[in-house]
Amino acid sequence: MRLDKFLAQSSIGKRKEVRIYIKEGKVRVNEKVVTVPAINIDEKIDKIEYLNNVVEYSEKVYYMFNKPSGCITAKIDKEHKTVFEFLSEEDKKGMFHVGRLDKDTEGLLLLTNDGDFEHKLMHPENHVCKTYFFWALGSLSNEDIKSLENGVNIIKGRVLTRPAKMKIHDYGLFKDFEDELKKLNINLKNCNQSVVSGYITISEGRKHQVKRMLKAVGCNILYLKRIAIGEVMLDTKLNLGEYRHLTEKELQSLFSI
Ligand code: URA
Repeated sequence: MRLDKFLAQSSIGKRKEVRIYIKEGKVRVNEKVVTVPAINIDEKIDKIEYLNNVVEYSEKVYYMFNKPSGCITAKIDKEHKTVFEFLSEEDKKGMFHVGRLDKDTEGLLLLTNDGDFEHKLMHPENHVCKTYFFWALGSLSNEDIKSLENGVNIIKGRVLTRPAKMKIHDYGLFKDFEDELKKLNINLKNCNQSVVSGYITISEGRKHQVKRMLKAVGCNILYLKRIAIGEVMLDTKLNLGEYRHLTEKELQSLFSI
């Protein structure tokens, strides 16, 4: 790995800054001052020092996790199981979650030890798109769909959401989908109630945003699953509670947001 990349990834500074530090003679490789930022080092063998302090390398790790319902997106919790309890002791070291999903929401959650990555994806100005699949109690008229696509008022009617993309998947009475819905742990006493399923893509991350948006048009979410962040889709081969590394292609698409 290049020396300047190593120092930037080890949080010594931004790429531009660490190049200056190297040129200023502040960095030593195996006890010798090095002034060329582009030299290659072996981060596992070489001893790198910045201002006489050894720089420990922490490799950046990015996981895609398929969150099950019933666990919370937090590092630790006294009462509930957390998403990190699904990671091995080795894999969970230094990791944190990128954004949150509600306790009863399933699906795609990114986990990383890269603070810049988390900051970039979560920054409100970056408007990263997130797509959810939902089942809701109620029905959605064309007018409701238009409202959601234009933006609806949530949080006591005071906050207008950014426009969402909507795609209706199916609708009818609960009894028409009973088998499918029971597999998702959705049980209704009255089988003649209307239900609707679909996809919603939002570019904000307010608390309970999808639930609030659907509520604003008279629907109650029964099931919610995040299936995509930007262009990265939840891997259908991942069972609930499983995780895997993001591929280079997935990382590139997220870094280019
Ligand atoms: N919107 C919600 O309402 N809940 C989630 O978990 C994510 C988005």
